[in-house]
Amino acid sequence: MKQLIVNADLLTFSGPDAPRAGAEMRSVGLVRGGAVLIDGGKIVSAGPRDMVQRHPDAGKARLLDAGGRLLMPGFVDCHTHPVFAEPRLKDYGLRARGKTYREIAEEGGGILSSVRAVRGTTAEELARGLFERARRFLESGTTTIEAKSGYGLDPDSELKMLRAIKTVAAGTPLEILPTFLGAHAVPPEYAGRPAEYVRMLCADVLPVVVQEDLAKFVDAFCEEGYFSAQEAGSFLLAGKNAGFGVRVHAEQLSRSGGSLLAAKLGALSADHLDRVEDEDIRALKEAGVVAVLLPGSNFFLGLPEFPPARRILDAGVPVALATDFNPGTCPCWNMQAILSIAVSRLKMTPEEALTAATVNAAHALGLGKTHGRLEPGMQADLLLLDCRDLREIPYWFGANLAAAVFKRGNLVHSTTELRI
Ligand code: NIG
Ligand code: FE
Repeated sequence: MKQLIVNADLLTFSGPDAPRAGAEMRSVGLVRGGAVLIDGGKIVSAGPRDMVQRHPDAGKARLLDAGGRLLMPGFVDCHTHPVFAEPRLKDYGLRARGKTYREIAEEGGGILSSVRAVRGTTAEELARGLFERARRFLESGTTTIEAKSGYGLDPDSELKMLRAIKTVAAGTPLEILPTFLGAHAVPPEYAGRPAEYVRMLCADVLPVVVQEDLAKFVDAFCEEGYFSAQEAGSFLLAGKNAGFGVRVHAEQLSRSGGSLLAAKLGALSADHLDRVEDEDIRALKEAGVVAVLLPGSNFFLGLPEFPPARRILDAGVPVALATDFNPGTCPCWNMQAILSIAVSRLKMTPEEALTAATVNAAHALGLGKTHGRLEPGMQADLLLLDCRDLREIPYWFGANLAAAVFKRGNLVHSTTELRI
């Protein structure tokens, strides 16, 4: 079906098919009084209304009025852990009483408490929870997410999580790209033996993930008390050799070598980066790794410090933003809230934050040629926002400004009448 959306101010992010860095991140491709013509789930034309209306198909299209509001690409959330059995309310309460993430994990909370819950839950129940959350992402203007396993940590439970993702991905308009995060924590049955656990993952689980086509990426938590750079590296290399893209949880709680590992393996992204040093930043830049910042987790954990975004941006590394949606450190699915935190705490400009949440996030998932911009040939993933100035998106902190959301040209959420 052809549709023509008129009377919109567009954030097109038009430009080269490459991650944006440095000053490029401040260019959002604003077109006032713009229009977008879509057909068959793709954008046919986007730009000034006169230009778009001259397209031969424009006359045959269903006409939609954006009411002068901002229209941008749907958010790409390139780092989430959305499959879990229950929220971690106990951890939350303990933290409010002053306990740290590490202390709570050592006392039986943390990732391993989510693991116990996932192990005791069926694939169907996990899928039901994820299906509900998929709706929350869409309602908030996110049209594509990456989704990690990592709360199973035994062969059956990891595969159960990945199969739940596959089931839900087939039944929701939200586009979900799965990641096998087998090396998220060392499970109790391998306590003190992380290398052996990694060998088991590579020998027993990875082949099934390949065979059933259950993932696009592999990821590891490279951190003191979790996996050393060597252990994480052997898991990620096995994944890379099996054909998966590589991502790394790097330098979140300590400088553990994750960034250098990501650079060495040619990873798509290195994520968190709270404790990066200049040497790490240089390595990421040279290797073309996207730096994914997750300031929602710092905010929710109540940490006084945030990743050194300005240093990373000013060094010319392409930066992406994501929620890190998970039950422990960031139960927030709304990218608009993450933009607010990025502007207030990372000192990113609203333009940089928006570029980080669209074009660069798409590149972090290897989707830069089809997602994250309003340009002919791109997927018609669109977000209409109830505002007229892009600074309002981070400014109205905690709000959901999504007035209409299109995925592959289909209207999947709306709070407003668009038909003329
Ligand atoms: O990205 N750092 C490791 N993984 C998650 C936290 C997961 C959890 O606490 O359940 C993160 O913050
Ligand atoms: Fe994470």
